[in-house]
Amino acid sequence: MSSGPFLASTREELAAALAPRRREGATVGVVTTMGALHEGHASLFRTARERVGDGPVVATIFVNPLQFGVGEDLDRYPRTLEADLAICEREGVDLVFAPGVAEVYPGGDPVVTVEPGPLGTELEGSSRPGHFRGVLTVVAKLFGLVRPDLAVFGQKDYQQLVLVRRMSRDLCLGVEVVGAETVREPDGLALSSRNRYLDPDERQRATVLSRALRAAQERAAYGLPAARWAAMRLLDEVPEPELVLDYLEIRTPELEAVTDPHPAEPLPARILVAARVGTTRLIDNLPLTLGGAASPRVSDSPSDQ
Ligand code: PAJ
Repeated sequence: MSSGPFLASTREELAAALAPRRREGATVGVVTTMGALHEGHASLFRTARERVGDGPVVATIFVNPLQFGVGEDLDRYPRTLEADLAICEREGVDLVFAPGVAEVYPGGDPVVTVEPGPLGTELEGSSRPGHFRGVLTVVAKLFGLVRPDLAVFGQKDYQQLVLVRRMSRDLCLGVEVVGAETVREPDGLALSSRNRYLDPDERQRATVLSRALRAAQERAAYGLPAARWAAMRLLDEVPEPELVLDYLEIRTPELEAVTDPHPAEPLPARILVAARVGTTRLIDNLPLTLGGAASPRVSDSPSDQ
């Protein structure tokens, strides 16, 4: 498996290609994707390679109907297999698994699915009902077919990363879930297969999302309200309908509610944003550290202190 990626489209081809490597005791790494690959995906392949050494890196390419809601972009989702294979080859992916819908869901929609729990209905889940049930179900199936030791997921889809990690732990799947940093354009926009839907004006406006998150990051030492306000100030500069904000939230790294908005000791947190720019829905997030500012919190009332 060293002369370019081998393409498997059936379960049997996948199993046959991996069997000899498994017998050798090689560490198997997987990167699950929906194709339309870009530098963000390429960075996940590189992280997987660093982690598995000589072991096989498997890329899966499958546009999963189960995670698209009614009126979402399942039909217009870009399908670019030739270009995807070229990127996999360039990045030293050993095996590409690109099955059809009937190969993954031979009996039609699955009867038994993975329930994401309460987090599945929040943030992304609140405007995309059933989305994370679809994601976790297909990821569980892909884990079952590839049987990887580790899987690399992008922090770009932070809620997905948290939920997949939780699923692997709660269901004892034995897959180590590795999070990889978000790859961005030079102006800060997070790479996404959906960026190609943006016209030049929208593309320019879309940079406000990452700028807002950075502004929050810089103010986070002064507490949650200050961080949120710094982000909102920038987002408010782009009026509706040019930018329609879905949510801007600061949560713990596990995506639970922050209980102390002004922690005395620095507290790791995550800021997450979703907005529609034109007809394209974009998401982004960054880590931040709440509290611990040396200077007094001038905006707080005395009773807060
Ligand atoms: P997809 O959107 O193709 O993303 C595949 C993987 O690439 C995810 O782990 C995602 O977080 C990561 N990724 C996307 N853009 C990135 C960027 N700019 N920087 C770093 N990583 C990035 O996410 C899915 O597909 C699907 O939900 C899937 C997990 C494959 C299940 O169908």
